Order: sequence, then C-alpha cells, then structure tokens
Amino acid sequence: MNVNRRHLMTGTIGAAAVAMVASACASEDGGGDGSGGKKVGIAMPTKTSERWILDGNNLKDSFEAEGYEVTLQYANDVAADQVSQIETMVGQNVDVLVIAAIDNKSLSGVLAQAKGQEITVIAYDRLILDTPDVDYYASFDNTKVGTLQGTYIVEALDLANQAGPFNIELFAGALTDNNTKYFFNGAWEVLEPYVTGGQLVVKSGQTSLEQIATENWDGAVAQERMDNILSNFYNDGSVVDAVLAPYDGISRGIVASLQGGGYTTMPVITGQDAEVESVKYIIEGLQSMTVYKDTRALADTTVDMVVAVLGGEKPDINDNETYDNGNKVVPAYLLEPVSVDVNNYQEIVVDSGYIEADELA
Ligand code: BGC
Repeated sequence: MNVNRRHLMTGTIGAAAVAMVASACASEDGGGDGSGGKKVGIAMPTKTSERWILDGNNLKDSFEAEGYEVTLQYANDVAADQVSQIETMVGQNVDVLVIAAIDNKSLSGVLAQAKGQEITVIAYDRLILDTPDVDYYASFDNTKVGTLQGTYIVEALDLANQAGPFNIELFAGALTDNNTKYFFNGAWEVLEPYVTGGQLVVKSGQTSLEQIATENWDGAVAQERMDNILSNFYNDGSVVDAVLAPYDGISRGIVASLQGGGYTTMPVITGQDAEVESVKYIIEGLQSMTVYKDTRALADTTVDMVVAVLGGEKPDINDNETYDNGNKVVPAYLLEPVSVDVNNYQEIVVDSGYIEADELA
C-alpha cells in the first residue's frame, strides 16, 4: 500500500499537496515512477448515486497524481452504453481498464478485445463474471456488508430478549450486480434463523432474491414495491417493524413510501454507502443505519494495484478464494465496511473527512 498517498488524500489540502508533488515529479521525469505517459480508462456505472461520483473523482485524482492520463466515463446505468465506452477506451490503447460493471455478464466480448491488446483489467467494487480476462478485483468485504445490516436489525429489535413477533420486509439490489447476492446472503444468514423461529415474520412472503431485487438499484422502484407491500399485506392495521435495505437510495425510497402510508415513526431501516442525504436521515431518525465504505481507500487500493502490475510487480492481495467469477477465482483486495448510525456517524464519516460537517447542516 502507498501509505503516503492515502495519508495525503484524506483532505482537500492533502489532495492539493499530492497534485503539486505529482506535477513536480512529472516535470522532472515524466511521472516519477515510470508511469509517465500511461493511460487508464475508468468506466463507472452512473452519476445518479453519490458514491460513484466520489469513486470516479478519487480514482481520477489518484491516477493523475501518479502521472497517468485518465479517461473517466459514466454510462447512466445502461449496460450497452458501458460496453461501447469501454470499446472506445480499448481503441484509444489504454494500458489499464478500471471497471465498475453495470451488468456483470455483458463484458466478456470487449474484455477479450482488451486482453488481445494486453490491457490490464481491474474489476472495481463489482466483480465481472464469466470471463478469463479480468486480472484483479478491488472491493470491500461484500458479505460483511450484509452481516452488518442483518446484525443491526437483530440488535435494534433486541431479538435476544424480545419475543416479537416483529414484521420485516426485505429488499435487495440489482440482479445484474454480482454484489447483490453477497450483500443479501450476508444479511440473510443472520436473519433467517429468526424467521424460521418465528420471531421475525415476512408478511409479504417475499424472500427470494428474484422477488426482492431492485432493478438498477433504483429508489423509485423500491418505493413502488414498498407501496404494493403496504397496501397488500399491511392493510389490516399491522405495522412494519424493520426493513432490510441494501443501499441508501433504496432506503430513502422506502422511507418515502412509509411516509406516504402514514408512518410517523420509522421502522428499523438499514442502508449502505453513507450518502450525505442518508446520514441526514439517520440524524433525523428516518433511517437507522448505513454501511460506510471509504471510497478514498478503495481508489488508493486500486491505484496501488495498477502501479504494482504495470511496474512488473505482484500487487497486494488479501483474498484468493472468495470471488470465483465462473471462469476463475479472481485475486482480490477487500477492504472493511463499517456500520454507522446516529451514535458513531460523527467519528466515522465526519471526523475522517468523508463528509464535511456543513454538508449535514
Ligand atoms: C456497491 C454499493 C452500492 C450499489 C448501488 C454496489 O455494487 O457495492 O456500494 O450501494 O452498488 O450503487
């Protein structure tokens, strides 16, 4: 790991310092570490979610600080557009592709072209499936994201002491995203015993991944599903006590639905990404928790990987078994997600500089 860069990148002043150091290096020796003139293509899924904007910006800044020329593209959650963006990058002879896939199974063709040109391919945050042409995977412990969400619900409802039964409804992400099943399986492993034992009840009966998935991770889609659940299964005066939601945008869609249904006190609602809007919801008591994943650290990990590989070295890997993409086990570096609620948001997301205090005002 490049400790210096990570340390420097934790604030605006740090970023400016990195830029100055980088330009000084660039003027002396074209990049300072042999990466001068190297090109990286970054393909991000969408700008509709805050985290991907941060990811894109962090990656761009960190690669540029290493002397790379950067192309950064977003595809508005349209898988075919992402494929053409990557084709264009391949045509531009990039040395590296960093891809957060929209559809994990749509990229085999374009990645075969990339391999033909010896382009290094990093799956960023989301694993790319069914291809031999992905070299490394940089992400978080995705199962643990779900474990943190499930555990939060168990503790918030005090299932160790309260018999219930409590009503819970389940939401998952997009089926085209490989992370979706890891998040859900992590949570379900914690929650299912309570459902089997009768302490938790899924009144809708919707528990399979296909039933609970949310197309494109879209909050509006989740809101509509929650509306349907409320009118079909909670029209008898019963209330929802907890909602497993995998991502902050979905959590906020669910809150909107519950508010529309007359809820003034919210059930326990989970989330992910520590988006500013959801941290505000947590402070206001509308959402219970989120899972914070430091996208600055993920960008740094990715850049470190790339610098190592292009320098002819082996990158740091801490997982060689979890992420089988259907073709091979992809060597991965996984970072730790952190559970955040009203009690620790200040320390975890504000004091660390991830969110500025005035953004929450
Ligand atoms: C990411 C999550 C994000 C979700 C929706 C997942 O692949 O890991 O952090 O909430 O996509 O954008």
